[in-house]
Amino acid sequence: MGVKMVSVFLAGAGPGDPELLTLKTARLLATAEVVLHDSLVGPEILALINPVAEIVDVGKRCGQASTAQAEICRLLVAYAQTGKLVVRLKGGDPVIFGRLTEEMEALRAVGVGFDVVPGVTAASAAAAGLSLSLTQRRIARGVHIITGHGADHGLPTHDWTALAQAGGTLAIYMGSKYLPGLVEKLLQAGLSEDVPAIAVESASLPGMRVLRAGLATLPGVVLAARPRGPVLVLVGQAMALETNH
Ligand SMILES: C[S@@+](CC[C@H](N)C(=O)[O-])C[C@H]1O[C@@H](n2cnc3c(N)ncnc32)[C@H](O)[C@@H]1O
Repeated sequence: MGVKMVSVFLAGAGPGDPELLTLKTARLLATAEVVLHDSLVGPEILALINPVAEIVDVGKRCGQASTAQAEICRLLVAYAQTGKLVVRLKGGDPVIFGRLTEEMEALRAVGVGFDVVPGVTAASAAAAGLSLSLTQRRIARGVHIITGHGADHGLPTHDWTALAQAGGTLAIYMGSKYLPGLVEKLLQAGLSEDVPAIAVESASLPGMRVLRAGLATLPGVVLAARPRGPVLVLVGQAMALETNH
C-alpha cells in the first residue's frame, strides 16, 4: 500500500468546553480551509477556525438530522475532492454515535484519504462534572454506552435484560425524548425503582444542570426541568456515591 494522502479530518469537538478540545483538533481548525460542523459545536470553538476558512453548518443535533445524513456525506465528498484541507467537526467523540461509518464509507468510495481525531465524549464530561467515576471497584465493573432512541425513531431495541443484569453504569445518549419508555424497559428488565439515576444537561458548559432521582422518578424530574441543552443519562449504583452537586 502506498502512503495515504490525508486532506480530510473527522475530528471530535468534545462536549462543549473549548478547553476540552484536543490540541490536535485545535491545530487542525486553525489551518483548515473548509470546516463542516454539527450544530452542537459552540461559538467559542468555532472562533478557533482559520478566519479565511469556509465554514458550513451541517446542522445535526441530538440525532435529529436537519441536514439529512446523505446530504452531509455528499457535501463532505464534494469538499474533499477539491483537495482542500477539510475538517469535519463533530460533537464529543466522533466514534460514539457520530454517524462516522457513513462518512468514512463515502470518503473511501471516492478514494479520499482521511484521519479520525478523537474527542472527549459526553459521558466522560458528565462524570467529570459530577466528580463521579463511571466505573467503581465492586460496584460498577463496566460502562454501557447506549443510544436512547432507535435508528428509525421510537425506542431502541437493546437487550434490556442483559443490560439490567450486567450491573455496570449505563450511559444513555439521546435519551431525554424517550426517557419514560426507556425507564419502563429497564424496570421491566429487573432494575429496581430506586437505582440512582442522574441526567446531566450541557455537561462541561457554564449552563450545566444536574438532575438526580431514583430510576422510576427520573422521567418526571427531567420533564419538569424542561432541558434545552443536550442531556446524558447515567444509571447505576456508582451514581449513588457522593458528588459535587
Ligand atoms: C448524536 S449524539 C453525539 C455524541 C457525541 N459524539 C459524543 O461523543 O458525546 C448527541 C447526544 O450526546 C449527548 N451529549 C452531547 N454533548 C453533551 C453535553 N455537553 N452534555 C450532555 N450530553 C451531551 C446527548 O445525549 C446528546 O443527545
